Amino acid sequence: MTHPSRRDLLVAASAAAVLGRGVVGAPRPRHTGDAHRGAVCVASANGLPATRRAYELVTDGYDPADAVVQGVRIIEDDPSDTSVGLGGLPNEDGIVELDACVMHGPTHKCGAVASLQNIRNPAMVALHVLRRTDHCLLVGEGALRFARQMGFQEENLLTESTRLEWLKWRENMSREDDRLNDDERDEPVGKVWVDPDRRAGLDRVRARPIQHQTGTVHCSAITPAGDIASCTSTSGLSWKIPGRVGDSPIIGAGNYCDNNIGAAGSTGRGEANLANLSSFLIVELMGRGMTPTEACLEAARRVVANTKEHRLRRADGTVTFDLKFYALRKDGAFGGATLWKGGSFAVCDERGARIEPAASVFDIAAPE
Ligand code: GLY
Repeated sequence: MTHPSRRDLLVAASAAAVLGRGVVGAPRPRHTGDAHRGAVCVASANGLPATRRAYELVTDGYDPADAVVQGVRIIEDDPSDTSVGLGGLPNEDGIVELDACVMHGPTHKCGAVASLQNIRNPAMVALHVLRRTDHCLLVGEGALRFARQMGFQEENLLTESTRLEWLKWRENMSREDDRLNDDERDEPVGKVWVDPDRRAGLDRVRARPIQHQTGTVHCSAITPAGDIASCTSTSGLSWKIPGRVGDSPIIGAGNYCDNNIGAAGSTGRGEANLANLSSFLIVELMGRGMTPTEACLEAARRVVANTKEHRLRRADGTVTFDLKFYALRKDGAFGGATLWKGGSFAVCDERGARIEPAASVFDIAAPE
């Protein structure tokens, strides 16, 4: 497996500039990534099974958009992953609202849904938006009606444990409201009856309320023929204001691909990414010659530099949140970067599925 030299990357970057990429009728430039070297799938660390599935599908001849959506579907269907799909943490009213986006390199089309309720696989609905409509993004009630028309079944996405996590957060929010905090309730004098089918949920609830969780799954794939697709799916920020949409369904922010260059996606604080359109930036930086890791790191550094609000900055120059980026280049090179040390991402190629370490902006782990 050969990596392009720095000189190759510079030559490709200047060739791209000379050829005027994107001008109608002009030949598409050859990026160094065009030296394709095999199928690869990349995902956020929780997407290890997604990379395995997507890799199986692209090597079996499936379209890369189907491959990434079917990979992500495994995580959406898993009720133990509280960041996405069935069992995702709900909004402040206790209702699960999902966002997802899929982009298809060969057609440069995208499809997305936001604030979608009652459908566990928003990435599959997003793929229908991409394939069966002239639109890019459907939201809320319109997205749900579209999903019904496409044959998706509605269900309650709140599991017993996420309902109880929500209740713990809601009850412990304030001492001023009429719901008693955990430490304000009197101990019962005997055992408390819990229906057997609810006990498993109770066992999984954490001792302290979850504050803000912004987990998500991203997966991108390149086929043996060099075609690319990418997908991001999430239940978004836990306890969000109903109707809040994060970065995941916004093309260029939480997900982006260019069939001539590569793909990128993100997980973490969506608001920080929305203001920087980092996935688009990462793909553009790879197109100008950066490696996937360098491009992810540069996007992460920009997010830190553009974080101006005092409440989000710490005195030592770090920030109060995390954001993670994942990138896949046309030639099969891949990388990831996070704000804090210790992050990782998932990869599957001919060597199998595995977790790889991510680069980081800060040289320390995120404070607890
Ligand atoms: N990155 C997921 C979100 O903020 O909604």
